[in-house]
Amino acid sequence: MKKTKTKYICSNCGYESLRWIGKCPECDSWNSFTEEIIEENKRAPKPYKGKIQIQKIQDISAKETDRIITGIAEFDRVLGGGLMPGSVILLGGDPGIGKSTLAMQTTSKLNDKVLYVTGEESTKQIKIRSERLNLKSDNFYVLAETNLSVVLSAIKELQPAVVVIDSIQTIYREELDNSPGTVTQIRECTSILQDAAKRNNFCVIIVGHVTKDGMIAGPKIMEHIVDTVLYFEGNSNYSYRILRAQKNRYGSTNEIGIFEMRESGLEEIKDPSKIFLSERDKQTPGTVVTSTIEGTRPLLLETQALVTPSNFGYPQRVSTGFDQRRLSILLAVLEKHGKLKLSSHNVFINMAGGVKIFEPAIDLAVCCSIASSLSNKLIDNNTVVIGEVGLGGEVRSVSNIDKRIREAEKLGFEKVILPKSNLNGLKSKSIKIVGVRNVIETFSNIF
Ligand SMILES: Nc1ncnc2c1ncn2[C@@H]1O[C@H](COP(=O)(O)OP(=O)(O)OP(=O)(O)O)[C@@H](O)[C@H]1O
Ligand SMILES: [Mg+2]
Repeated sequence: MKKTKTKYICSNCGYESLRWIGKCPECDSWNSFTEEIIEENKRAPKPYKGKIQIQKIQDISAKETDRIITGIAEFDRVLGGGLMPGSVILLGGDPGIGKSTLAMQTTSKLNDKVLYVTGEESTKQIKIRSERLNLKSDNFYVLAETNLSVVLSAIKELQPAVVVIDSIQTIYREELDNSPGTVTQIRECTSILQDAAKRNNFCVIIVGHVTKDGMIAGPKIMEHIVDTVLYFEGNSNYSYRILRAQKNRYGSTNEIGIFEMRESGLEEIKDPSKIFLSERDKQTPGTVVTSTIEGTRPLLLETQALVTPSNFGYPQRVSTGFDQRRLSILLAVLEKHGKLKLSSHNVFINMAGGVKIFEPAIDLAVCCSIASSLSNKLIDNNTVVIGEVGLGGEVRSVSNIDKRIREAEKLGFEKVILPKSNLNGLKSKSIKIVGVRNVIETFSNIF
């Protein structure tokens, strides 16, 4: 009898080992190794006897306009202008964040046939969701199946333009002895789907689960196979959801889409600044409005700081939505070049609305909110503060300054404080523009 060979594979990164190990040497995750059966084929590949088609690039006809527009503008923009036929999109996100909802909403408005393969829910549950979301489509077909061969036959029969696989962790290939959700099954099923999509020019949206660490479950290798990797993120305390492209073969990865989860489904948010500023308390020291760029869009948001005397030897420094190490650097800069005594104070920073910002252009606003809270002085609530702060306390220029100013104008702000080096040629009739060189100059301007 043929002996079955097994290997231990890290379910996180795909690292292979002959024996079980507790900690993966590649990605450092614990207890991630599972035993999987491997079939080795050592024979050399046979020469191909069929017809091979090699084409000159000039002879291939393909237009960007071939993209399928889903009608959900936020989704289309993140993809780079709609679904690309023949492409495979991986949609990952935390449990219950709304992946199935997004996949259904974006595909139900199409004029072409859509096959929704559900391995997790029954057709009845899908129907109930579609009624709640008020989706009406003549072209939406549902298949409750987990066997890949059946799915492929269904695709052959229906000839859909878009196939949704919800989720890849439930789909399996009979020929493999591994159970669904294992690295081998996920990798194999994804590449078969990818191959079918490329040959028959349909688009596949694969829903993938996310592990505790926020990575798409299954090996990283899955991210290499697919054309686009989208992450659907959100904070469980807020109804806002952000769709981010982590990899995109057919578009930029800078774009984000913002949605709100309501009972009737995901609602696009076209004017996010208004929402992030809506709960602003204008009478509290320690808050200031700043501007960040997400993708190609400017976003105004509120930076909050709370500075309190510390009773212990080590003051606390806590930030939410802002890089903790960056905060330590800014505090050191403020102490040395901003003449603020912060060493015996606790400093808490928060980006209102649950957003996470890693752009250095909000540094100056963070510094201003700290100074405001420490001195208990209000910053004029019609002012927007923009700028990166260097280690010498200097205020450095930021990109896309005109977009940021236009957004502030649009929302009725009266003054914008920005790096002096950004001033070149900037003019505005409705907003006062002030250029600053360093933090001290900024403080004398706002207080
Ligand atoms: N009746 C409802 N009213 C309001 N919101 C609802 C309702 N039903 C579901 N939701 C929202 O939809 C979310 C679940 O959406 P969905 O099933 O699309 O998530 P998912 O990411 O596919 O989850 P899973 O990982 O379990 O597949 C819930 O977290 C909730 O926010
Ligand atoms: Mg789901």
